[in-house]
Amino acid sequence: MKAIQALYEAHKIAFSPFVFQTVNCMYAFNVFEELFAVKNGLSLKEISEKTAVSLYGVTVLIEMAEMADIVKQKETGFYTLTDIGYFLARDEMTRVNFNFTNDVCYNGLFNLKEAIRDGKPAGLKVFGDWSTVYEGLSQLPEDVKKAWFEFDHYYSDNSFDDALKIIFKSNPASIFDIGGNTGKWAIASTKYNNNVQVDMFDLPGQLAVAKKNIDSITDIKDRVHYNEIDILNPSTEIKGGADVYWMSQFLDCFSENEIEMILLKIKKNAKKDATIYIMETFIDNQTFPAAAYSLVATSLYFTAIANGNSKMYSSSVFKYILDKAGFECVNEYHLHQDSFHTILEVKLK
Ligand SMILES: C[S@@+](CC[C@H](N)C(=O)[O-])C[C@H]1O[C@@H](n2cnc3c(N)ncnc32)[C@H](O)[C@@H]1O
Repeated sequence: MKAIQALYEAHKIAFSPFVFQTVNCMYAFNVFEELFAVKNGLSLKEISEKTAVSLYGVTVLIEMAEMADIVKQKETGFYTLTDIGYFLARDEMTRVNFNFTNDVCYNGLFNLKEAIRDGKPAGLKVFGDWSTVYEGLSQLPEDVKKAWFEFDHYYSDNSFDDALKIIFKSNPASIFDIGGNTGKWAIASTKYNNNVQVDMFDLPGQLAVAKKNIDSITDIKDRVHYNEIDILNPSTEIKGGADVYWMSQFLDCFSENEIEMILLKIKKNAKKDATIYIMETFIDNQTFPAAAYSLVATSLYFTAIANGNSKMYSSSVFKYILDKAGFECVNEYHLHQDSFHTILEVKLK
């Protein structure tokens, strides 16, 4: 890279929040939708008229967006979306990631330095006085909660169809869903199979939401059971009896030592022939650079806001911890069709 180009790239970083907030305004004022709707572009005056934003406001936003290659000016003088602008306007994953960054992470990231120094989610204080985001999840402001759940569900929901086929290969009678959250998996699995019993394990706030979601579904509600647990509390146990343990996007919420401790907790009471399925978005299993980029950035959400000590992992790290805790990975499924997930099928050694 030539020095002049490197200087330009460095300046993009120095001014990156300006671009981010420009995009935020373009969403809020409907500029993307107006530009998307027309083929030959719009003048600044037309954008101003259509969005009811002042000509001054539209001008500063569009000038920044042009610099960032989000819009381009045609010979006619009219502005249209570039390919990058198209993805910002229309791609669901980009939208979910953008809202998560804006609503959940943006303010808290100011405390990243403190979080890294102290190993605590110092940015969480913008929302409340909790030691981890999970304690406060059900009490977050509505827009923050919406962005958090859309982010979480976007990544897990797309994988459930494939996951159900894999997990039910062995026709389990009992599944323990550890970190079951709002009950999406409990609902999907009990609807998929009419006999299976599902035990959810999670913090009380999340289980209360799950119960509310499940109690209204008559044909499954009696087959879902709720187990309140703070899995990090050394005095808590995970009872035995499950054919299958299911942990989806759960273990990445913890540090390496904590993951080992959770696995040992499962091992203590697990049946010898139980199968543990771990579904994760591993950094080293991604096909698209945008996916690996998102995951590495998500690690900093864990650092600054979620709990201060977890991250998105590579599968090699998980396999090392599994081995150390007395488990072996017997199968690995890559769900790359519309999904970024890997499922590790794990047995006791
Ligand atoms: C990222 S969500 C994953 C939810 C769901 N399994 C999915 O795939 O969408 C992590 C879940 O772990 C739960 N969790 C986090 N810390 C916990 C703890 N100390 N004890 C029990 N559950 C915990 C959270 O409440 C949350 O429901």
